[in-house]
Amino acid sequence: MSYTSQLRELIKRVEKTREERLGHDFPRMTPEQKQDVLNNHHPDYIKDQFRKAKIGPNKGDRFPHELCDVIEGYPAVKWDEIDTSKIDYDVDVLVVGGGGAGASASLLAHEAGADVLLTTKLRFGDSNTVMAQGGIQAADKSNDSPATHYLDVIGGGHYSNVPELVRALVTDAPSVIDWLEDLGVMFDKEDDGSMKTRHGGGTSKKRMHSARDYTGAEIMRVLRDEVLCRDINVVEFSPVVELLMDKEGKAAGAVIYNFETEEYQVVKAKTVIITTGGLGRLHTQKFPTSNHYGATADGLVLAYRAGAKLAFMDTVQYHPTGASYPEQIEGFLITEKVRGLGATPINVDGEQFVYHLETRDVEASAIIRECAKGKGITTPSGMQGVWLDSPMIDKLHGEGTIEKELPAMVRQFARFGVDIKKDPILVYPTLHYQNGGILINDKCESSVENLYVAGEASGGTHGRNRLMGNSLLDILVLGRRAGKNAAAKAQSIDNKSAELNLEHAEKFVEELKKEGIKRTKTSPILIPDYTDGELS
Ligand code: FUM
Repeated sequence: MSYTSQLRELIKRVEKTREERLGHDFPRMTPEQKQDVLNNHHPDYIKDQFRKAKIGPNKGDRFPHELCDVIEGYPAVKWDEIDTSKIDYDVDVLVVGGGGAGASASLLAHEAGADVLLTTKLRFGDSNTVMAQGGIQAADKSNDSPATHYLDVIGGGHYSNVPELVRALVTDAPSVIDWLEDLGVMFDKEDDGSMKTRHGGGTSKKRMHSARDYTGAEIMRVLRDEVLCRDINVVEFSPVVELLMDKEGKAAGAVIYNFETEEYQVVKAKTVIITTGGLGRLHTQKFPTSNHYGATADGLVLAYRAGAKLAFMDTVQYHPTGASYPEQIEGFLITEKVRGLGATPINVDGEQFVYHLETRDVEASAIIRECAKGKGITTPSGMQGVWLDSPMIDKLHGEGTIEKELPAMVRQFARFGVDIKKDPILVYPTLHYQNGGILINDKCESSVENLYVAGEASGGTHGRNRLMGNSLLDILVLGRRAGKNAAAKAQSIDNKSAELNLEHAEKFVEELKKEGIKRTKTSPILIPDYTDGELS
């Protein structure tokens, strides 16, 4: 589906102003202007889209309605079908989730001598990691430092981030890049062999390392191979549907549901690591999403029932540039690398209206505001969008840059007859990331003993807004830490006579009933339901 004749007419306005725009830097917003656009246009600031949790460790805290619905859902597990004394797997460390955080946690736990089981809802690798495009941050050049990276991260997070987690993120970052390279990740390099690095929104130095525009897929390719080569036990199509606890209320295993046999299985583990990713498929405020199909907040639900505290769950990241055309890929991520290479957002009149590398929350809000002012473009499916002027990239960096730096994006749009080298892309913010998650410390321990968390399921590192490339970084920094620490802790645990139970979930049900919360939803929901034509 190439551009319609109406859209082609509008593209002429973008082309008309391109040469002039190439010579001018658009001014950045002042702090006051940023706060104003956030207050008035960012979805996190729309009060009636949130409600307070009625029960659990975050009782009284604001969650998006869609998250509250699953957090306060009834357990899907049928107690009487589960015999917790019949153990199907008995391991040192159970890793729940098969993305980058789960893979790196498994590798480090295995290296520390632990017997590891990785269980995952879909196929090993189906995750937001594999869909990450633009890059991974690390301050490993002589003009940069972890301290500078630290300042950017907390500035981006509105100074609300948990400091020890930011410190962990930025100090481990250079060694994570070395580790990935040693394992075989093929990063983009300059002609002299040094790492190619670029800016992302809100970064003061060029520290975004990339593998073209499929950085996450490249990293996942290598991690997955490594896990499989080391003979770590991986069980696919088997989501965890409830955690299991010991008599003292410590995490001690999980119930998994085998999608193929439709049976529950019991895992006994000395320590458990949750790496289940985010909530994109809850489609908060009906936003489309860039997330993979399994991103349904499962880990948050499981951990919350077990008593783990969540943090920053009232803030969700809307990536400024999701595809709003063609309809088949609405919400699909248009990597920030496109803006990092110089493409700018343009309104219906062919005018730039925001500096192209503001932090994501500000950039997304500015796009929403522009559309609300009537300066957006209405797509044939009725969506709003603004232009992202991709042809600027070749003009700025030379013919062939787009093809070289963004090969996956070029092909994705070519499937629909759109040539992003010649024509701009229509974009609108898309639900991309949960800024918060299960609160952890820098050892990746949650507030429940023996329960560790890493990656997008964890909360605190990014405060109220994550910067680009710090997610591919945190899954590895925290994944590695979680694996190492969970394995060390497992060595000190003797669980031979431990009896596993689901009492925490039974108590949770009691609380739900006491609060008058009706059994309208069970959770974790595992697979999003699109069958009624509505996003749910
Ligand atoms: O825009 C992107 O490529 C996304 C990167 C990220 O979320 O870190």
